[in-house]
Amino acid sequence: MRLRNVPKSLDFAYNHPNFIDRPDKLIGKWAQEYFHNSNPIHLEIGSGKGNFIITHANQNEKINYIGMEKYMPVLGKLIKKLPDEGIQNLAVVNADAENLTEYFEAAELDCIYLNFSDPWPKKRHAKRRLTNLRFLELYKKVLKKDGLIILKTDNKDFFDFSLEQFELASYLLKDITYDLHNSPFVEGNVTTEYEEKFISLGLPIYRLTAYKNND
Ligand SMILES: C[S@@+](CC[C@H](N)C(=O)[O-])C[C@H]1O[C@@H](n2cnc3c(N)ncnc32)[C@H](O)[C@@H]1O
Repeated sequence: MRLRNVPKSLDFAYNHPNFIDRPDKLIGKWAQEYFHNSNPIHLEIGSGKGNFIITHANQNEKINYIGMEKYMPVLGKLIKKLPDEGIQNLAVVNADAENLTEYFEAAELDCIYLNFSDPWPKKRHAKRRLTNLRFLELYKKVLKKDGLIILKTDNKDFFDFSLEQFELASYLLKDITYDLHNSPFVEGNVTTEYEEKFISLGLPIYRLTAYKNND
């Protein structure tokens, strides 16, 4: 939601057609009132500068994408990359995943991407990790029955922690790799800004898919 004392330099971002100032007002109505179709909705949490979500939106017009980013100046960088007229199947929101259920109704989403989420390495900060059990339960609420989460990270400790938490939350884990760019799952992979940086340093990327439905 719009914060007070917003710098004028971000006016362009607030006025962009893909920017949703009040995502809470679209709860349960994203398909009908924003996208105007019943295509699947994919959410990226922590979109950063946006390469991933913008590329996906341009490549897959039959999927609706929402980029969620907590820091408005970072979201401003994403919005700067968008055409002035906007992209039809994309929305971006300045919001915190903590409040996910204020923005999405039960079973409103088909897929959630967690790309290079902050690893919060200190044990006392484990609750802030976006794959903490607490968050995984929130994701379950807003995902459809056959919904899924796709996670990528460069941080092995965060990855191992995430695997453990997904198991605890009874997700079904699939397609796990400890080296995405030397695995079959690299086909069709869209890189993020952080991913590009880690690849250039020769570091491996960890990736998993977690299905809500464990049957
Ligand atoms: C390490 S960056 C990765 C950015 C991008 N996904 C990439 O791979 O290049 C993590 C991003 O997640 C955002 N973020 C962290 N916690 C968040 C939360 N609770 N809700 C929404 N965004 C969050 C941060 O502001 C930051 O832009």
